[in-house]
Amino acid sequence: MWQFLTLSLLVSRATALVRPDGVGRVPALGWNSWNAYNCEIDADKILTAANEVVNLGLKSLGYEYINIDDCWSVKSGRDPTTKRIIPDPDKFPNGISGVADQVHALGLKLGIYSSAGLTTCAGYPASLGYEEIDAQSFAEWGVDYLKYDNCGVPTNLTDQYTYCVPDSTDGSYFPNGTCVNLTDAAPANYNWATSTTAKRYTRMRNALLNVNRTILYSLCDWGQADVNDWGNATGNSWRMSGDITPTWSRIAEIANENSFLLNYANFWGYPDPDMLEVGNGNLTLAENRAHFALWAVMKAPLIIGTPLSTIDQSHLTILSNAPLLTFHQDPLIGRPAYPYKWGYNADWTFDPAHPAEYWSGPSSAEALNGTLVVMLNSQETTQTRTAFWKEVPELKDLYRRGGGFRVRDAWTGNDLGCVRDKYSVRLGAHDVGVLVVGEVC
Ligand code: GAL
Repeated sequence: MWQFLTLSLLVSRATALVRPDGVGRVPALGWNSWNAYNCEIDADKILTAANEVVNLGLKSLGYEYINIDDCWSVKSGRDPTTKRIIPDPDKFPNGISGVADQVHALGLKLGIYSSAGLTTCAGYPASLGYEEIDAQSFAEWGVDYLKYDNCGVPTNLTDQYTYCVPDSTDGSYFPNGTCVNLTDAAPANYNWATSTTAKRYTRMRNALLNVNRTILYSLCDWGQADVNDWGNATGNSWRMSGDITPTWSRIAEIANENSFLLNYANFWGYPDPDMLEVGNGNLTLAENRAHFALWAVMKAPLIIGTPLSTIDQSHLTILSNAPLLTFHQDPLIGRPAYPYKWGYNADWTFDPAHPAEYWSGPSSAEALNGTLVVMLNSQETTQTRTAFWKEVPELKDLYRRGGGFRVRDAWTGNDLGCVRDKYSVRLGAHDVGVLVVGEVC
């Protein structure tokens, strides 16, 4: 049985999309225009973001992609002769290549956006049927990352069946996450890798693999068509949910959903719970902290989505957290942290308002030297959360009754000394404690 399981894991990982130069091996770090500016973008805003990534010290922490989202092109259509998408000359007077040159000169990389349909979500020309031409343009312009959305799909290319995404309105679901009541659900043995959605995304993958430039491929099909099954062979990351909003309820809901998908996350392929909202809306500091910590330990792509020229120091501090970023970018351990206890709920409970509260994962980094332990308070009032060493999978074999570990608080950097048996923390509503648990003491 174990042999079989190990083999099937190896087989499934062997199909991951492996790219040159380690591109996409660990989850991406960067910035994207959408959550910050929606359609209101231009070269100045993109270059300001790039410069701020350098000035604020984010580049030296590993943030590298500066990604242009929807609304960058001439809306009325492609060049009638070349059939290329035309960068909007008002927004991007030096084209996308002009921006790419400047972003590259800062030692950063440039990302762009299109859709596996006829139009993007905001109604701009998209790449279905033009995959080769567009991949070629992106490569010539110096693009390093493509986010590929799922809007503008013509009716003759919609899927035969509906796949139930828990946060969509496609079907209702039981509290444990099992979908019911889908009138057009697929038969049990249906292979979603043969769906038209998978085919639309595969066409662009093949086009990208045929150009003379390594372009990270980020799928954005919102979790549809069982993308977890074929996303790993198709792209470097794949959105597993609908859009995030800067609200705690949405962040908790997506974290809950993604917590059940973490066996899909490892080197070269990551489920993507959407871009960061740190710094946006009315999220409290605690909520910003919890959002970032959960995304980092789930090894989500960490794509900042707030205007960097006006960012608060407190939000910048969260995005700059060294232990979390070190864990996230681990060069030797690909797996994320997993929940080891749900806490508020019984284990394995699917609850959009109360994701798992206790998480742990191993790190190979000398700076961390051990295990990251995360404790979340998913409740609306201040609560105590306690990590018992005997319950933490990475620690329990080393733990002896009355024994301790050297512990650091990842937010304050404070050395908490030799902590015996357990560590308790008082957490405000939606706050998170992050511990770096080191050697036995
Ligand atoms: C959505 C996508 C968002 C953003 C938007 C642009 O489909 O999930 O992240 O890219 O389209 O219109």
